[in-house]
Amino acid sequence: MSQEFTDFVISSMGPKTTPRARCVIGSLIQHIHDFTRENYVTVDEWLYGVEFINKIGHMSDERRNEGILVSDVLGLETLVDIQTHKLDHIKKTSSAIIGPFYRPNSPIYRNGESIIQKEVGGVKAFVHGRITDPEGKPLPGAKVEVWHCAPNGLYEQQDDEQPDYNLRGTFIADEQGYYSYTCLRPTSYPIPYDGPAGDLLQFMDRHPNRPSHIHWRVSYPEYHDLITQIYDSECPYTKDDSVFAVKDDCIVNFTPIDKIDISTTNNHVKSLQELKARDIEVELHYNISLPLEKDMVDDRKKVEAKQLELEKAYFEKYANFARDLDISKLSINEKPSTDEKPSVNEKLSTEHVENVQHVQHEIL
Ligand code: BEZ
Ligand code: FE
Repeated sequence: MSQEFTDFVISSMGPKTTPRARCVIGSLIQHIHDFTRENYVTVDEWLYGVEFINKIGHMSDERRNEGILVSDVLGLETLVDIQTHKLDHIKKTSSAIIGPFYRPNSPIYRNGESIIQKEVGGVKAFVHGRITDPEGKPLPGAKVEVWHCAPNGLYEQQDDEQPDYNLRGTFIADEQGYYSYTCLRPTSYPIPYDGPAGDLLQFMDRHPNRPSHIHWRVSYPEYHDLITQIYDSECPYTKDDSVFAVKDDCIVNFTPIDKIDISTTNNHVKSLQELKARDIEVELHYNISLPLEKDMVDDRKKVEAKQLELEKAYFEKYANFARDLDISKLSINEKPSTDEKPSVNEKLSTEHVENVQHVQHEIL
């Protein structure tokens, strides 16, 4: 159906719609209609799509978030992550997608302790570093949450053989901002592919594997909450992540424990022998810098200004739109020339427009 129909649908939004909702839903309608026209989508195909979306809901619960999975294999979560941070002017540790397996309230451990509650194989790693602001000022008391999967590729909530919260932990940085913990050198794993995300991967002839990684969430009062991941440079999937999340500055080197410089642990470890006695084989030294939330808020304002510009443009485009259309007379795939105004705008529904303008004025 022609663009006239799309304009008709978009302009059906009432005066109480907020500017952001008008713009985002209007744009969604435009893209979905264009997609449908471009691909000559049939009723059967549309129904398949509806069932696909329903299946995403049915497969999701507190242990599984199929919506995030589908979003991730399409590169959407990474796009949103990059776009959210692209106007940031502060140099800081890069963020990454949170993924579907985060759980809040993981056990609080003392620095250096192990998040391995049950032996599940794998190579033990000692991870340590310092949490500072971008100028290097330490952030004592910063909360460091970490989580990763077992060598069998499963997070504890996916695996009945693992204890609750296995391979997850919360650590508190010491008075000088140093943290440390013991975990496993991470392993690569396939994202769950027995649902719609897996169907999508199969349609696209793609593998489900994520590179070996550890998830982090680092927070400190008044500072920006950092959600990120580190990736093992030796894992081949670091160059071919099924969810496109790897950023080069998040790729790290695990080194043999003999190379550790004990002085960088701020006495969290007294000797190499202590680590060897705990069967730790590799070390990762990783510092993190967090910006002040108020500096991030300034950056977010630039994003909001751009959103506002779009909202105004959207509003102006449809403000004088006449809602008077005989759908049965519309042609298929007919696109108006780009310089044409909405074609029925001479027949204004003035009451509707005035209402919209009034509400817009109050909100903007
Ligand atoms: C993860 O890293 O845990 C993950 C991210 C995206 C999709 C699936 C899993
Ligand atoms: Fe993960």
